[in-house]
Amino acid sequence: MADTERVTLRTRTDADADVLYRIASDLDDWEQRSPRPPAPLTREAYLARLAAGAEGPDAPVQFVVDLDGDAVGSVSLFDIDLLARHAEVGIALSPAARGRGIGTAALRQLIEFAFVRDNLRRVHLQVLASNAAAIRSYEKCGFVTEGRRREHAWVRGSYEDIIVMGLLRADWDSSRP
Ligand SMILES: CC(C)(COP(=O)(O)OP(=O)(O)OC[C@H]1O[C@@H](n2cnc3c(N)ncnc32)[C@H](O)[C@@H]1OP(=O)(O)O)[C@@H](O)C(=O)NCCC(=O)NCCS
Repeated sequence: MADTERVTLRTRTDADADVLYRIASDLDDWEQRSPRPPAPLTREAYLARLAAGAEGPDAPVQFVVDLDGDAVGSVSLFDIDLLARHAEVGIALSPAARGRGIGTAALRQLIEFAFVRDNLRRVHLQVLASNAAAIRSYEKCGFVTEGRRREHAWVRGSYEDIIVMGLLRADWDSSRP
């Protein structure tokens, strides 16, 4: 079976902590994943961050990306606006899982969850202009470019643009088979 057909989203368990911590603390691709200043991240600080704000109606919706029972990354909806019914999307896979269609498959499932289960009407995200693989994956899921924040990010010695992308439920609905 193709990798993409074996991808599921599920609840995080304690057994996933090592994989997720390794992804979150990897300084090599930090700026692609996070707007926070790069810095060594302890396991304790990472776990505390995950636990913070985990409850409540507008708490982040965080899934583990699962491939054959193993965690290979995470996808989430955060900054959920219950009034205007939108949320920001985040995704990160472990290096070995990238470039195999897994991210696109996981995102498609997260988008369906956002629109069908959580009754959101719009999802959006921000991505470094140089992150071509991520942008391609987002376009395949139906995201369109909504704007460009010029020189918004500091990445390894120079400023870089951030692309803002969004997807409306109405457009997603009309593009479904
Ligand atoms: C971004 C990410 C989630 C994408 O998931 P993925 O599983 O690697 O992506 P997919 O394999 O599903 O799709 C990537 C697409 O980009 C294409 N691609 C890869 N490198 C590319 C490049 N340099 N230029 C253009 N397209 C590229 C692939 O060919 C593929 O398109 P295709 O299916 O039409 O051939 C994953 O790479 C990741 O976790 N990266 C590190 C963290 C990150 O950048 N997160 C996003 C923050 S905004």
